[in-house]
Parts: sequence; structure tokens; C-alpha cells
Amino acid sequence: YVEIDDREKQPHSEQRIWEDARMATAQWNFGARDAKQRLQEKGKVHDYDLLLDDTIDFVQTNQLAGTKGIEDQPEVSDIQKKKMSLQETRKSLPIFPFREDLLQAVEDHQILIVEGETGSGKTTQIPQYLYEAGYCKDGKKIGCTQPRRVAAMSVAARVAQEMGKKLGNEVGYSIRFEDCTSERTVIKYMTDGMLLREFLSEPDLQSYSVMIIDEAHERTLHTDILFGLIKDIARFRPDLKLLISSATLDAEKFSDFFDEAPIFRIPGRRFPVEIFYTKAPEADYIDACVVTILQIHVTQDAGDILVFLTGQEEIETALESLTERTRRLGTRIKELLILPIYANLPSDMQAKIFEPTPPDARKCILATNIAETSLTIDNIIFVIDPGFCKQNSYNARTGMESLVVVPISKASANQRAGRAGRVAAGKCFRLYTAWAYKHELEENTVPEIQRVNLGNVVLLLKSLGINDLIHFDFLDPPPHETLALALEQLYALGALNHMGELTKLGRRMAEFPVDPMMAKMLLASEKYKCSEEIVTIAAMLSVNSAVFYRPKDKAIHADTARKNFFSPGGDHFTLLNVYNQWVDTDFSTQWCFENFIQHRSMRRARDVREQLVGLVERVEIDMVSNKDDLVAIGKAVTAGFFYNTSRLSKTGGYKTVKHNQTVLIHPNSSMFEELPRWLIYHELVFTTKEYMRQVIQIENSWLLEVAPHYYKAKDLEDTTTRKMPKNKGKSRAELGDH
Ligand code: CDP
Ligand code: MG
Repeated sequence: YVEIDDREKQPHSEQRIWEDARMATAQWNFGARDAKQRLQEKGKVHDYDLLLDDTIDFVQTNQLAGTKGIEDQPEVSDIQKKKMSLQETRKSLPIFPFREDLLQAVEDHQILIVEGETGSGKTTQIPQYLYEAGYCKDGKKIGCTQPRRVAAMSVAARVAQEMGKKLGNEVGYSIRFEDCTSERTVIKYMTDGMLLREFLSEPDLQSYSVMIIDEAHERTLHTDILFGLIKDIARFRPDLKLLISSATLDAEKFSDFFDEAPIFRIPGRRFPVEIFYTKAPEADYIDACVVTILQIHVTQDAGDILVFLTGQEEIETALESLTERTRRLGTRIKELLILPIYANLPSDMQAKIFEPTPPDARKCILATNIAETSLTIDNIIFVIDPGFCKQNSYNARTGMESLVVVPISKASANQRAGRAGRVAAGKCFRLYTAWAYKHELEENTVPEIQRVNLGNVVLLLKSLGINDLIHFDFLDPPPHETLALALEQLYALGALNHMGELTKLGRRMAEFPVDPMMAKMLLASEKYKCSEEIVTIAAMLSVNSAVFYRPKDKAIHADTARKNFFSPGGDHFTLLNVYNQWVDTDFSTQWCFENFIQHRSMRRARDVREQLVGLVERVEIDMVSNKDDLVAIGKAVTAGFFYNTSRLSKTGGYKTVKHNQTVLIHPNSSMFEELPRWLIYHELVFTTKEYMRQVIQIENSWLLEVAPHYYKAKDLEDTTTRKMPKNKGKSRAELGDH
């Protein structure tokens, strides 16, 4: 049914790896068993089995309590809401009766902690209330931060609509590489990362009268850093109002941090949610999701379904499988609208999830964690929770960072279940056992600051003149070794001197809203006179490796098309080649289609590239091209990413140079069959193994040229041949080791 033009499909081997990953993560469930096999053992139990290939048995053990007495007074339904005017809808939100009290509390206190259930109207209403109460009178703005890009965009669009204004005028948003605000903007939604960057140009946030740090419970790295900075500003700007808004029970912790700031609680309305667990663990949770969706669709009364998956790849796999199965079932089942939502989804498609469900149909939303608290989707009655999310993980000892799929925390599981009880009593199907919930899930998610590389924020804080990071006012401090390693990496990149002070290079690096390694690469393009190429490579690298696609029915053609772009030297050159060919066709959509390139990703790369060109020009680097000099381009990449060097080992695998960790070339890479001796990888993805994604071939001698602080000749001996490296025997000074 779902007819999505320009639909993205994942490349083949990507999919294979994800399947491997699912097998691996399923081991978290003790003794995984295959659902089909179980059915065979038992024989078919329900009559709808005749309709469905598979079913899953659930057991109910407990329930999420609702607010007392609420069963009798269900909240306005989707359909009713459609009939109500937007203003009436606003008045129906749980926050509305507290409008005056809230405004009074803001009046009386400089800092206020606001706590309320997801969907009570915090994000969309509070800025409007403040605006209506005159907080923008003297030309100042109301700011509201969001941890997620999608939330910032969609909430701004909603509020603009409620206020009857055009998005980007009075109400706007600002996210990385996209500023949708104007001189007239008075309510500004932005990602927490963007507000951090605003400190660089406006350290006292003078243009704001109110700042709302929203979704504080998410505890993203940027939000955590903002806490420290904004607390400081509030001290010398008594006129600035500060609201910290949170969906869960961390309010006391925030209050303690902000000098005992009062807590404003918005009583939530919540219907009871029955919780179901699988009887046995599921080996393949994507498949289990699809089966459960169909099972609900066939057996349960009206109400939309919300499914939590870990990312775009999984959502697309599930979407494909579900579309295929519903097509097979044809008119034997009611209409099922399948809608994805994830960060990179274009905004017109994002908006679809908020459209009311047509009568007689059921909406099924396949979402990432974004729907946990950041976005409220109405009319959800069923939640399916496989129990996983994708998380950054960082090893401070080795400096290795990768994205991994991990079990969620109990707090998260309960947030997810809560999504089912907003408009009526609901049901949550957990695709894990009650035992697993009780014994295998952590209580709370570890705040991001304690599990990621801090290079970025350390550089930013240093540029804000905050030198003493050890004594920075952290809500929860990062591990000492993570901080130390970030400082060490910035030193190796040349952003800090041996005193830990920001260098001229570091100051220029901080201009770029990208990872310090990427910033260094961009700046190094000046020396190697290849800024045109490096800017393109940077833009292509930042579109998330979603450049090629591989439809199942045309897999061979897609593979051939992809291989035709392979360029000597590695994936960076392949990406450069793709982009330049696209430019030559005058950005043709047709060309993308014919070559199995995702047009949407290319458009995004072009936007990012445009932004980067502006930034490169701001730091006074000339845009020059040097497209045939692969060595120059390779050296510029090396100057930024030398940390990510690996060397071919005798066994044919790769080892990282500094820490001797085993890593493999991603099967999608153009270097997969080449096995050069020295490689730099752009990123690592951990599935069943640690894979290097986007690799470029380099010479070991370049490392000594671009990172003399970091590499010594003895690190770079060639172990495959055991030949004496050319540099052996030379003095350190000759090698540039100052
Ligand atoms: O921030 P909080 O979770 O307290 O609630 P909210 O995001 O302000 O949502 C309040 C209401 O606005 C909900 O009923 C949402 O469904 C609705 N909303 C919407 O229709 N479209 C959006 N893009 C965002 C919110
Ligand atoms: Mg919110």
C-alpha cells in the first residue's frame, strides 16, 4: 500500500551485516529460539494462523497504572480533534489549565524545572504562553532546545501552524547545516548542539529573554554541557528566564543542580497500559515485529501501532517485509498504513505521521527512539518494543568509537510503553521475556557524556575560554580518562598546545560544526591546495553512507552500477567521483535513478557542501581544485584522520596502529578486495565484528609528515614484509618530531 517515491533501500551487504548483528544481539536473550520452529512444535493455535505465516505467543504479567478515574473520561480522539479548531485543541492539552500558574511561576523565579508526561504540551505550548505573556516585547527571543533535529523541525512547524504564521518567520528552527529563522523570529526551536555553537557568537545569549532546555531527561552530551554554561549565565543575567523541562522523574536532580530551583509539575493524564511479554526470546526481532504488527492488525480493535526500531536500516527492512506481506494478504485484511520516522527522513514524509488515520484503516508507525519522548503521536493504542536502541559507545583506552545496538534501560522501556496510554487504555507488546526485563535491563540509560568521545565539546569549551575542564560544573562528570583522551587527541591534531591552550589552528577548527578530525581535514586542504575536493568528500562522508541503494529485484544491476564508480585509492575517491559525475549531469534525478544512487542523499550532500564552502571561506581558505593529485587529497584526509590508521596484518586482517585492535574492511568498500597495506577509515561500525566504513589507502610516510606529534617511525614498520622502513635510523628531528 505504501507508495513512497524516491524510496531508500539499503545496500545489500549492509543488510547482511545487520542480520548478523541481530543474531548477535539476540544472544542477549538467553537461549534464543526461532519463532517458526516453535509454532511447528506446537501446531497452529489460533485460527488467524491460517491468515498469517507466523504468530507469537505473549503473556501478560503486569500493567502500567493509569491516573485514577481516568477510564471514564477518555481524552479527545483523533477524529474529534480534526473537527476541533487548532485553538480548541490547544485548550484540550493537560498543560492548559496550568497556564496562569506556570506564567506566575516563571515571573516569580529565574530558574524553573518543569516536569510533565510526554504529550502534555510542554514543548509546543510553553513558548507560546510566554510569547503571549509578553516575553518578546523588547525584541528578545524565546529559545527552546531539542536533542533531535527531527523534533526541532516538526515542533516548529506545528507551533507556526498553531500561531497561524509561516514557518521561518515568527517561529523558526535552527539545526546543523540548516537555519530556518529570520529577523522576525521570536520563538526559535533549535538543537542543543546549535545553541552550544551560538555561545561562540553570543556568549551571554543577550538576544534571548527566555531559554528552555527541553527534553532534559534525554541527557544528551550537548544538553549536559548546556546545563553548566547556562547556569553560569543565569548568575550574571538576572533578566534571563531559564526553564528546564523534562518528561520523567529526574526533576529533583535538576533542581539540586540549579541551586534548588522550584519544580513545576504538570499532572499527567494516563490510561492504564497492559504489558505483554513474549513467552520465549525472539531470535530475529525485526521479523518478530512484523509478525506482531500483523497479529495486532488482524485480531485487535481500532487503534494505531507504534513500533520502536533502532535506525533507518532496520526501519526499511521492516517496511519492506511488512509491505510485501500485506500485499500478499490483499483485501483479506483492513488497510494498514505503514509510516516510517527517523532523523534523515525528509520533512514532508515526517509530517505524514501526524495526519489522522482514515476511518477503517490502521496506522503503523515504524520509529526510532525519537518517538520515545521527543515526538507525541496521537491515537497510539499499541506499542511494540523489541527492547533495543542504537547507542554510541566509546572506548577511552583505545579511542575507538562505534555505533552499537544495545538493550534499552527499564526507564526507556516504561517510557515506550507509556506511549500506548495517552488517548485510551492501551497495550504494549515487549518482544522479550518478563525475566529479561527484570534481570537483564539496567535501571537507567547512562548519560551520553559518560560514553562518548568529548573531542568536539572540549574544543568548543576551550574556544569559549573555559580552560579548566576538570572543574567545569557538570551535572554528571565524564570519566577522567575520556576527558584526558579528548585533550590528547586535540593536542595531536594541533588544536591545543602543550599547555592545553587553544592554538590558532584550534580556533579555526572550532569554526566548523563538525568533528575535530573533519575540521582538521578541511583546514589541511589549504596546504595541499585541494579544498574543492576535500569539501566534497566531507559533504559526502556526512550523508551517512546512504549513497547507493540496492533493490532486491535489481541487485546485480545495482552492484555493477556501484562498482562502476569505484576509483583508485579508496572510498573517499569513489564518493568524490559520484558527486562530480552528478554535478556533470546538472544534478539530474534521472541519472541518480539510473545509477542506483539515492537522490535524496545527494541533495543533502549538496546542501552540506554549500554550508561547508561558506565556512571554509570564512576562515579565509581559497576554494581551489587539484583533482588529479591523489596524493595531495590523500594527505589532507590523513592530516585529519590519522588517528584512524590501520595496517594490514600477516593474517590478512587489519590492526589499528596505536592499539592493535582487529578491524575489517566493510564489504561495501571499494577496497574490500584490494587489501592495501595502510588504510585510514572514516568510521567504525560494530555488528558482529568491528568494520571500517569508508576507507582510503595511504602511505605510512604521510603519517610522519602530517602527525609528527603522534606517530614515531617505529610505530609504522611494515609488518607484512618486514622490510626495513625507509625512515629507520634517521634521527627524530629529521622525521619532524619536535
Ligand atoms: O512536549 P510534550 O511532550 O509535553 O508535548 P508536545 O510535544 O507539546 O505535544 C502536545 C500536542 O501537540 C500533542 O497532542 C501532539 O500530538 C501535538 N503535536 C502535533 O500534532 N504535531 C507536532 N509536530 C508536535 C506536536
Ligand atoms: Mg516535548
